Amino acid sequence: MCGIVGYVGEKSAAKILLNGLEKLEYRGYDSAGITVHNGKNLCICKKSGRLKNLEDALLETPLDGKTGIGHTRWATHGAPNAKNSHPHTSMNGKIAVVHNGIIENYDELRMDLIQKGYIFSSETDTEVIPHLINHHYRLNGGNFLCAVKATVTALVGSFALAIICEDHPETLIAVRKDSPLIIGLGCNENFVASDIPAILSETKEVLLLDDKEIAVITKTNVSISDFEGNPINRDVHHVTFTENAAQKDGYEHFMLKEIHEQPRAIAGTLRGRLNLCEPVKFDGLDGETLKNINKIQIIACGTAYHAGLVGKVAIERLAKIPVTIDLASEYRYNQPLTDNKTLVIAISQSGETADTLAGMRLARSLGAKTIAITNVVGSTVSREADGVFYTYAGPEISVASTKAYTTQLVALYLFALFMAETLGNTPQEELDIIKSELANAPEIFSRALVSEEKIEDLSKKICNERDMYYLGRGLDYAVAMEGSLKLKEISYIHSETYAGGELKHGPIALIEENTVVIAISCDDSLCGKMESNIKEVVTRGAFVVLLANDTTKLSHSSYNELISVPETLPLLTPLASIAALQLLSYYVAKNLGYDIDKPRNLAKSVTVE
Ligand code: M6R
Repeated sequence: MCGIVGYVGEKSAAKILLNGLEKLEYRGYDSAGITVHNGKNLCICKKSGRLKNLEDALLETPLDGKTGIGHTRWATHGAPNAKNSHPHTSMNGKIAVVHNGIIENYDELRMDLIQKGYIFSSETDTEVIPHLINHHYRLNGGNFLCAVKATVTALVGSFALAIICEDHPETLIAVRKDSPLIIGLGCNENFVASDIPAILSETKEVLLLDDKEIAVITKTNVSISDFEGNPINRDVHHVTFTENAAQKDGYEHFMLKEIHEQPRAIAGTLRGRLNLCEPVKFDGLDGETLKNINKIQIIACGTAYHAGLVGKVAIERLAKIPVTIDLASEYRYNQPLTDNKTLVIAISQSGETADTLAGMRLARSLGAKTIAITNVVGSTVSREADGVFYTYAGPEISVASTKAYTTQLVALYLFALFMAETLGNTPQEELDIIKSELANAPEIFSRALVSEEKIEDLSKKICNERDMYYLGRGLDYAVAMEGSLKLKEISYIHSETYAGGELKHGPIALIEENTVVIAISCDDSLCGKMESNIKEVVTRGAFVVLLANDTTKLSHSSYNELISVPETLPLLTPLASIAALQLLSYYVAKNLGYDIDKPRNLAKSVTVE
């Protein structure tokens, strides 16, 4: 998704903006640009394609100045070209704006501005903003803040904005509504960014803007107010992760680094929440609230949804309360049966996914209690939910989620245990066994990584396939869905997942000589059933890769390749089996030479519907 960086201080703005935009590359983009105030005028440089194109252009024609804004754009309205890229300026070049989000009433505003004589030079929704600010600037006798306020109150949609004005060389204005924006604090310099990693090399002290807030930023001062002009005091938030944590640490790709970080990330999620001999702690929820609810609804998108599928099973098995799980994009339009006896769990790594956020807002309006499971401190879901549980996985840079998934699983297991202990529906001895195995989850995951070399070799054999099929039953089916998503998003190989029992109801027609089938059979109790399903595809010539633990009861003739998965309790097998599937998709994509951390057409955080 688009990225924003802004700077006001004493250093070269262009250098800081480029550096910040580079750190935001992972969000996905198709063009980039910066505007710098050179003390007299606003000077602009925009290029389509990679940031390197912008850097080259700036080497040829440097932009000098100490105040500026920059942007990486991921096209929504208008083609991905230099003309449509940000910053956008007013007709007279006085106002420059970078924008993340969508202006829903831009058509109406655009028509109105055209009638007033404004000429548009792009196809974007964003361009209405600088024109409108310029219009109000003139009406307000050159008052920059008043012009911005008048403009943002006329906008419908979501927007994070950084704005500079020719007449105010040392001022930057930042606005947030439904799209994240933070302010970084320095000494004789301040920053704006859509995401913390963009400014982490410059400062660790940040102010988190809330919805409908405006900040006027100079190099020595930040003043925040709401859209009505009421001043706001905001505590400084100290960022605890290091810049290094947002870098590759010697791995070839962020995805591989993040796969290997999972034991540490899982330990981070467990820390302080799971102590044997004590009840499980689940931040953001008290036992009394739980006693008043009669059902749970989980909403999420993509990988977070797949984590939710596992969560549903864990909660129902341990807490014995009905759980439904919905894709947030479906939930919000399905007239859900949500009421004040419902607990809605919204899962979102970024905490900014538009559908998940909208689903959560709907749930609250229907009277439900909401809890957010998220990785990003201060994210919108975390601030709007009744309670929040942070996964503390550290920043996830690769578009393909890995450590976010496993830490969401851990969060959901903790929730299931917390609820079961509160309601007392499962004997404590049973819960204690699960608790002590969950405490070993970092170690279990580390053991799963041991198969990496074998998986790398296997990936060479199958990377040129056009289609692959994933099979599983029960929790193995849920994990298979996540494995299949990983494969398609970074290797662009078509893949589908089927529950073993569904095969003969249609999908088996797709199996022919050498079709690759990845079969997951980690739950001993379903092993026999899976064996029959695997035989069905073997008979039709499939090339079967079996994921099972060492003690698999499946006969050797049931598969072509075996990937060993460490043994654990049936309920926790997703934590043991997902590592192999993540590694397999990583190496398949690597063999094919794809841009693994920035797959085509995808963005890290989907803040538009
Ligand atoms: O930030 P979120 O967890 O809300 O994101 C949800 C999905 O967009 C995300 O999981 C997506 O499916 C990942 N690219 C999968 O790897």
